[in-house]
Amino acid sequence: MLKRALGSTGIDVSVLGLGTVKIGRNQQVKYPSGFELPDDQSVIGLFELARSLGINFIDTAPAYGSSEQRLGELLPDRHDWVIETKVGEIFEDGKSRFDFSYDHTVASIEQSLKKLKRDVIDVVLVHSDGNDMDIINDQPVFDALESLKGRGLIKAYGMSSKTLEGGCWVVENCDVVMATANLDYDEERPVLELAEKLHKGVIIKKGLQSGHADSASGGSGVETAFEHILSLPGVSSMIVGTINQSHLRDNVRIVNKTLSS
Ligand SMILES: NC(=O)c1ccc[n+]([C@@H]2O[C@H](COP(=O)([O-])OP(=O)(O)OC[C@H]3O[C@@H](n4cnc5c(N)ncnc54)[C@H](OP(=O)(O)O)[C@@H]3O)[C@@H](O)[C@H]2O)c1
Repeated sequence: MLKRALGSTGIDVSVLGLGTVKIGRNQQVKYPSGFELPDDQSVIGLFELARSLGINFIDTAPAYGSSEQRLGELLPDRHDWVIETKVGEIFEDGKSRFDFSYDHTVASIEQSLKKLKRDVIDVVLVHSDGNDMDIINDQPVFDALESLKGRGLIKAYGMSSKTLEGGCWVVENCDVVMATANLDYDEERPVLELAEKLHKGVIIKKGLQSGHADSASGGSGVETAFEHILSLPGVSSMIVGTINQSHLRDNVRIVNKTLSS
C-alpha cells in the first residue's frame, strides 16, 4: 500500500486508513444494518490483516465507545502505527455531548494517552458538532492543542470539520483537516484544493457514505466510490471503517489497483 506525506507534518500515512467506530460502538450509528461489536480475537485478526496489507494509519476517538481502550490493549506493535484520535465529543449513556474547553481538551488527551498506551499521539482532530466557526471563534480548544503540541504530547492537530468555511480555516491554521467527500457530496472540494496548495494534510471521511455506497445498499458501488475519492486533489489518506476482513482485503485491492492505473 502506497504511503503519502500527511501534509508538512513529517508523518507518512497509508492511502487507506482503518476507521474503528465499529470496534467500539454500535449505538446511535448510521450504518445500513445493525451489528455486534467484534470479540478480541476478531479485532486482533483485523489489525494483523491491515498491517500485513500495508496499512499503518488508524482513526479512533473518545466518542467511539471502547475503541481507544481496545486499540491500547489489542493493537499489535502499537508504536509502529500512526494513530489519530479526537477531542471535543463525549459519548455517554447513548448520547453525545460536546466540550471544547481548555481543561477538557487537556484532560481528554491525557485519557487518550493512557487508553492508547502511548507517550505521544500522532494526530488529534477536534470532533466538530457541526458548528465549526463557533468552535473556532469562541472556544479555546485550538490553544490547548497548540500547547499540547509544544509539550510534545501530540505531533499534529486539526479538525474533523463539517463546513466549507471551517475546513478552509483549519487548512490555513492547522496541520491537517478531516473532510467529507463522496459521490453524493462535493461541497468541501475547495478545502482539498486549498490544502494541496498549502501542503496541508487531508484525510477523507465517509468516502463510502458509511456503507451506503455499496451496491447491495443501493449505492453505485464501492469501486466507483474509491475511484472518485482517489481522483480528488490533495488527499493524503482515506479512512474507511470496516470490521469485515473480506471487505478490508477488497478495499486494499481496489485502492492499489486504482493507484497503479
Ligand atoms: N470525525 C468524524 O466526525 C467522523 C465521522 C464519521 C466517521 N469518522 C471516521 O471515519 C471512519 C469511516 O467513516 P464511516 O464508518 O462513517 O463510513 P465509511 O468508511 O464511509 O463506511 C464504513 C461502512 O462501510 C462498510 N464497508 C467498508 N468496506 C466495504 C466494502 N468493501 N463493501 C461493502 N461495505 C463496506 C462498513 O461495513 P463492514 O464493517 O461490514 O465492512 C461500514 O459499515 C470511521 O470509522 C471513523 O473512524 C469520523
